[in-house]
Amino acid sequence: MTTAIALLETLADVGVDRLRGGYSRHGFDRADAELREWFTAEATARGLDVSTDRNGNLWAWWGTPGPNAVVTGSHLDSVPGGGAFDGPLGVVAALSALDALRAEGFRPTRPLAVVVFAEEEGGRFGVPCLGSRLLAGTLDADRARNLKDADGTTLAEAVRAAGLDPRWLGPEPELVSRIGCFVELHVEQGRGLADLDAPVGVASSILAHGRWRLTFHGEGNHAGATPLADRRDPMVPAASLVLAARRVAGSVPGARATVGRLVPTPGGTNVIPSTVDVWLDARAPGDADTRHLVDDVVAAAREAAEAEGCTVTVREESYGDTVIFDGGLRDELTSLLGGAPALPTGAGHDAGVLAGRVPTAMLFVRNPTGVSHAPAEHAEPDDCEAGVAALARVLTHLAGA
Ligand code: GLV
Ligand code: MN
Ligand code: MN
Ligand code: MN
Repeated sequence: MTTAIALLETLADVGVDRLRGGYSRHGFDRADAELREWFTAEATARGLDVSTDRNGNLWAWWGTPGPNAVVTGSHLDSVPGGGAFDGPLGVVAALSALDALRAEGFRPTRPLAVVVFAEEEGGRFGVPCLGSRLLAGTLDADRARNLKDADGTTLAEAVRAAGLDPRWLGPEPELVSRIGCFVELHVEQGRGLADLDAPVGVASSILAHGRWRLTFHGEGNHAGATPLADRRDPMVPAASLVLAARRVAGSVPGARATVGRLVPTPGGTNVIPSTVDVWLDARAPGDADTRHLVDDVVAAAREAAEAEGCTVTVREESYGDTVIFDGGLRDELTSLLGGAPALPTGAGHDAGVLAGRVPTAMLFVRNPTGVSHAPAEHAEPDDCEAGVAALARVLTHLAGA
């Protein structure tokens, strides 16, 4: 039987980002194709029936696909320059937990499936949880088809190149209706479990969060020949936005605001940009606080743009309200796991999307660094095995007699 860590190591060379460090694995790119092949081979070798749904999510079924299924899994894509665990740990843990059930001679009384959701991070097309949102019908399919990556390739073109028909993208109520419950195991993305000295925990909630793209329009010009008084430099209000995001988030309890991506056009050292695109990631404990936070940051950005003779356009790229995971399932899991702690998270997950449709739970595995979305993200092998054992127990309980 292969351990989760040994399985994870078989992916060590896929999507390595030599420029930024860590991994860059994005929906429907070359690394993603390799990861899909890898998953299909691993699942098939375990006697599971693998299929791809209309939105590019992979499903591996133990037994006949049917209603009331117990589904586990996660995603294989990463943020740009991401760590090895965010996503893949949930997939290898699912395969490993199924190995453990098989070794015990377990016979599920409900269908069991492992799912790999497409483009969870939104690292290529900007909308996180792309596969699960399309599946659940919370993302408009026409809008999705027209999403563009940094090179101008549309999602429709990318899925076609991956062998899917982009006309198929969209809600799959029949498939969703088969999911009796969903349990996603994930590396913890903070220090909650490390501080509690616990290897495994259960998620209680996810912060409301979204992404907004602000485009500042100014006048492209020469860096040396243009007097300061004659400039309409969109980088100046873009810089104000970064500072406003930190200031405003600091005034809302529990809120976070981040600018992790900023693209000046045309992007020359000696060129005043004509436009600057800035992506704001904002999160807070509730819808109202998140909306207020974004409104205040946008107001500050507009004021700064006006002062520089620039304009700004704002587009919401994605949004998800606070998720409170199913209380019954959470309590069942915490007691099944001998009082494992329940803890909230600020990170988004496909489980958060599914939670709006079916009873959903998450298991977290301790991350001693507390760092995530960066190469320092980590989980010790023993903790990964504790996670697999916990998941195996949960699956036995849910899919057993
Ligand atoms: C995804 O991991 C997110 O929370 O942004
Ligand atoms: Mn992530
Ligand atoms: Mn993840
Ligand atoms: Mn995530």
